[in-house]
Amino acid sequence: MERTQVAIIGAGPAGLLLGQLLLRQGIDAVILERHTAAHVLGRIRAGVLEPGTVELITRAGCDRRLRAEGLLHGGVNLCFGGERHRIDLVGLTGGKQVTVYGQTEVTRDLMDARAAAGAVTHYEAEEVSLHDFDGPRPFLRFVRDGAERTLHCEFIAGCDGFHGISRPSVPESAMETFERVYPFGWLGLLADVPPVNEELIYVNHEDGFALCSMRSPTRSRYYLQCPAEERVENWSDERFWDELRRRLDPEAASRLTTGPALEKSIAPLRSFVTEPLRFGRLFLAGDAAHIVPPTGAKGLNLAASDVHYLSEALIEHFCDGSSAGLEAYSSRALARIWKAERFSWWMTSMMHRFPEVGRFGRRIQRAELEYLVSSRAAATALAENYVGLPY
Ligand code: FAD
Ligand code: DHB
Repeated sequence: MERTQVAIIGAGPAGLLLGQLLLRQGIDAVILERHTAAHVLGRIRAGVLEPGTVELITRAGCDRRLRAEGLLHGGVNLCFGGERHRIDLVGLTGGKQVTVYGQTEVTRDLMDARAAAGAVTHYEAEEVSLHDFDGPRPFLRFVRDGAERTLHCEFIAGCDGFHGISRPSVPESAMETFERVYPFGWLGLLADVPPVNEELIYVNHEDGFALCSMRSPTRSRYYLQCPAEERVENWSDERFWDELRRRLDPEAASRLTTGPALEKSIAPLRSFVTEPLRFGRLFLAGDAAHIVPPTGAKGLNLAASDVHYLSEALIEHFCDGSSAGLEAYSSRALARIWKAERFSWWMTSMMHRFPEVGRFGRRIQRAELEYLVSSRAAATALAENYVGLPY
């Protein structure tokens, strides 16, 4: 039997960041993670951090490598009709930039800080179950190394992603969910080749969306829109590069450097929100509570803003004896979540090929893109959402 102040389920970015922010204020938190640390670090996911996320990682004391190795981007490019247009993030937002730094690196830095502080993370925690979170003394049960264990706590933070156990532990009648599933996925490829451009390019092409991103000056991350039921085995490296080249503008296509894939995977696209985010002493944060389609890079950043509100609320509770922040957590976080849901849905709708919209829908999409790159007001709306709305 073990005891802690906050039991965190999941050692993804949400759980690790929350653990670190609490630890810095002297609040004890134990993390239970289903997989090994190596498995968590092996998942290639997000790559673009809002300035608010960087600020939070700084507050957690884990920004040293991010500052040294992260790439600051002051603009982002939209390509349609075979032409590229730059959105000047710095000029349109009063000087804000995003930082390109992989989710795996954020996770590694947080794991290292946690290990250095001697904080407890139980990796390979199996059969985690949540108990009595509607009363004053919640606890978790789990199995580790074949032995059943119990973790008593004052609060539970459900940071265990979309397929975690926290959300399904809440009675269905206590929550409402909102969902939209898109009829396509993203096929991603990571390769040690120089990026095709210094800044990201989001491409709307007749045959589907493409995205040129990166992890470093020598490592590129590319994505292609593909059918939802597509299998990664059908995509040789050569087929991927040929299709990407075809979707780029001629200048970028001529500069594309190809190489063997380090990783290739398909992610489905979904919008999903649970309401509320609090059930007694259980709080949901990150992908456990909501999913956005990846267009616009909001998933990881939204997990970070949830953690901002939740960490402040828990610190207020433990350090000042006030429960006001805990009472307000769900509504404060949801107000920002829905704005990021709207932005991600809008970027997805504008940039992808939707078979069902027909010729009229395609012309509307084109008009929207042309308006966006010719109106300062419209471009500002994209820029201020892309760099992240205020907390
Ligand atoms: P997660 O990162 O999912 O972490 C949850 C953790 O909980 C995991 O380590 C999991 O193993 C653990 N866990 C789950 N169930 C249990 C359990 N029962 N017991 C114990 N532990 C458990 N966002 C972008 O912005 N851009 C992208 O390109 C992008 N690509 C993505 C690709 C994929 C395939 C996926 C799934 C997501 C992608 N995202 C992307 C979204 C982004 O990665 C997530 O929003 C982010 O990881 C959310 O962090 P989190 O900590 O809330 O959840
Ligand atoms: C990346 C992913 C995104 O969803 C996005 O909008 C931008 C970049 C990436 O993985 O680098």
